[in-house]
Amino acid sequence: PSKEYLFTHKGFYFAANITTPEYLDSLETFEIRDSDVFIATYPKSGTVWTQNILSLIFHEGHRNGTENIDLMDRIPWLEYNTKHMDYSAFPSPRLFATHLPLICLRLVFFFFLQVIYVTRNPKDVLVSYFHFSKIMVTLEKVSDFNIFMERFLAGKGKVSFLSWLDHVTGWHSHAEDFNILFLTYEEMKKDLRSAVLKICNFVGKTLSEKEVESVVRQATFENMRKDPRANYENLSEFLREKKPGYFLRKGTTGDWKNMMTVAQSERVDEVLKEKMKNLPIKFIWD
Ligand code: PPS
Repeated sequence: PSKEYLFTHKGFYFAANITTPEYLDSLETFEIRDSDVFIATYPKSGTVWTQNILSLIFHEGHRNGTENIDLMDRIPWLEYNTKHMDYSAFPSPRLFATHLPLICLRLVFFFFLQVIYVTRNPKDVLVSYFHFSKIMVTLEKVSDFNIFMERFLAGKGKVSFLSWLDHVTGWHSHAEDFNILFLTYEEMKKDLRSAVLKICNFVGKTLSEKEVESVVRQATFENMRKDPRANYENLSEFLREKKPGYFLRKGTTGDWKNMMTVAQSERVDEVLKEKMKNLPIKFIWD
């Protein structure tokens, strides 16, 4: 029998083996603190990058002895608590990452004070996700890119959770209700320093010029790739295939052009472009 990579829970898709319906249900009563900071993203949109920046702002920038802790342990995933950490014992301010659609956690998220939501050009997300699935034990290996693309575009999102568009729309529809900083992967790529300063400002951290410089330097693609904690090199074997390959693959904008045919690109345009017009974010689409 073929392995089940996803399970559905309350109408959404979740990766099997790294979370359970019971654990997801327990999040309904997860106690949020006013000081918590969340990074929310659709997968492959710049989560690890933002995790690294946030962690550098909170920890390394201030040299408080947490330099050697893995990124995953400093800013763990809310819905994938694979190490069974007791989040309630974490000192404040706690930093979390989540791929959850807002709608999954409506009540809980209502109380979040600070959420950083990062979006990326969906074509790059799709291509990044396709490559990522080859190095992850938890993701189905679909050799035909077209099939993967159709799953990604499917309204009922067969890749993860729900469709990319629903994820982005869901979070943006609450832009006014919560304290959310919206960033795009593309703007971070274009001007990393400004993105770092925006995040500092959002979380109320004042860093010296030297500290800002150090955060920016350590958050470049080249330096993160060399940093085993940021490149997720210690990811356990039940998550990651035992084969060489960087978690941080290319780190560029527009890599979709190297992968997608004109017809495939037009297919994505056909499904997404018109609907994306209603989103308040301006995309660097090409
Ligand atoms: S995950 O698995 O969902 O958490 O993936 P996520 O971190 O959201 O996205 C991974 C992509 O982000 C790229 N990345 C970066 N790009 C530029 N600069 C930096 N510093 C950086 N760090 C991570 C990473 O390489 C993945 O994109 P691709 O296109 O696959 O390279």
